[in-house]
Amino acid sequence: MREKLDQLERRRAESERGGGPERLKAQHDKGKLSARERIDLLLDEGSFVETDRYVTHRSTDFGLDQQRPDGDGVVTGHGRIDGRLVYVYSQDFTVFGGSLSEAHAGKICKIMDLAMQNGAPVIGLNDSGGARIQEGVVSLGGYADIFLRNTLASGVIPQISAILGPCAGGAVYSPAITDFIFMTRGTSYMFVTGPNVVKTVTHEEVSMEALGGADTHGATSGISHFTTSSEVECLQGIRDLLRYLPSNNVDAVPRGPGRDPRDRREEALLDCIPPIATQPYDMHDVLRRVVDDGAFLEVQPDFAGNILCGFAHLGGYSVGIVANQPAVLAGVLDIDASVKAARFIRFCDAFNIPVVTFVDVPGFLPGVAQEHGGIIRHGAKLLYAYCEATVPKLTVITRKAYGGAYDVMSSKHIRGDLNLAWPSAEIAVMGPKGAVEILFKKEIAESANPAAALDAKVTEYAEKFANPYVAASRGYVDDVIDPRETRPRLIEALEALQGKRQRNPAKKHGCIPL
Ligand code: HXC
Repeated sequence: MREKLDQLERRRAESERGGGPERLKAQHDKGKLSARERIDLLLDEGSFVETDRYVTHRSTDFGLDQQRPDGDGVVTGHGRIDGRLVYVYSQDFTVFGGSLSEAHAGKICKIMDLAMQNGAPVIGLNDSGGARIQEGVVSLGGYADIFLRNTLASGVIPQISAILGPCAGGAVYSPAITDFIFMTRGTSYMFVTGPNVVKTVTHEEVSMEALGGADTHGATSGISHFTTSSEVECLQGIRDLLRYLPSNNVDAVPRGPGRDPRDRREEALLDCIPPIATQPYDMHDVLRRVVDDGAFLEVQPDFAGNILCGFAHLGGYSVGIVANQPAVLAGVLDIDASVKAARFIRFCDAFNIPVVTFVDVPGFLPGVAQEHGGIIRHGAKLLYAYCEATVPKLTVITRKAYGGAYDVMSSKHIRGDLNLAWPSAEIAVMGPKGAVEILFKKEIAESANPAAALDAKVTEYAEKFANPYVAASRGYVDDVIDPRETRPRLIEALEALQGKRQRNPAKKHGCIPL
């Protein structure tokens, strides 16, 4: 037995060799970690349990029979994050550029099946040149096997992707189906075809960074959710995100530390809203003063900044926050903002995370570009997402709630559970000036002093409609509150809604306007 154990030791060490020391050095020289170093940083110390370390590819073409490295370019297994079970795969770029073979795909599929069966998140650390070219259609089949599992696992277990290298071709579509994508500046790229192919087909000259770098996908395409400056920050970011997420769609959502006093009243909330209705303010200031310990984990912070989405704890309860951002485009709803928030709300709903919405919205963005870009279809996604969500939905109107955007932003009419308004709220079909110019156009034009007439009408309209009391008199808002009461009122509501049971009609699935 001793001999056999020595042999096992040697085989184990050999299986961890990857593509060899030279390629490992090249990996490090690019500022990238190895597949195993990444796993060590991601998981609780010593918790990784590896599977399939001896799996090799079965190909013989193009000299592949001369190279059969153990593990075939991907390290798979399970481990713990803050003591909770997660499944993980980590592609090894030093082995055939992390490219995906039939055997490589089989290892990933096995991990995904186990994650689904055991109700634990799956985390993919991607660093791959796409389909293994030498294997042809077999590797394409391997990708399809993964895509199918990504789709079936969607809404059942959280799926998180880190892009840690040049992910091309099929390597981008699995992450695209997952719930959250992390990218790292300077070393991670996502594109269907790289700069060379782009140049051949469209004659555009573009760098890797500009075509599919972390900032491009974090700010322009909106494909990635978190942009980090290093791999260490990226892997820590995944750990932080998991603190807000349940392990699956039936388990309880984990509680935060809950140290922040539940009855904390923030005096500073009285000064958040500027005296003039058209003046911007930063909604982050409101959110940080309301949530536990001021901690707001923002999702897609650099994309569609006119709406804020992210996770926080309130009285220890994990919540998804959606908030209009008056500091960017006056908080208007446009195509990008609608799609960003719709997807976030659907994630929260799938995983039983209550949605708390802060409203200060002048409406949908007018304009030819928005209309031709499909604001009707994309805005409808946000409406649909709010309507179908059955998790507890809490709404705080801080200032403007105008027009269709009033309906969309978690209004009472679409099953808001608790709808609160600050005294500064203005709930109406449109702002006073716009309304008066339509309603009294002729009268104002014919008056001796049109400017004074306009002012008088604006004042009259604002007193009558630009307040929360008309909506409150109908029960469309449940209460008008002192802003300082926001935190205790929301926590009290979350507690009351713990037993919420609401079901949509039975159906195969709805037809969200994609
Ligand atoms: C096999 C591959 C490979 C691949 C890279 N390698 N990609 N081997 N299949 N797809 C190998 C290289 O031969 C090399 O081997 C090693 O990995 C490192 O690659 P380099 O090119 O030296 O690295 P780098 O300069 O960093 O460039 C990385 C890269 C480039 C940008 C990813 O390798 C590349 O463009 N690869 C091809 C990308 C691609 O077109 N993939 C197929 C997409 S089609 P040695 O032995 O020299 O170390 C696809 C279809 C799926 O994925 C569709 C599903 C919807």
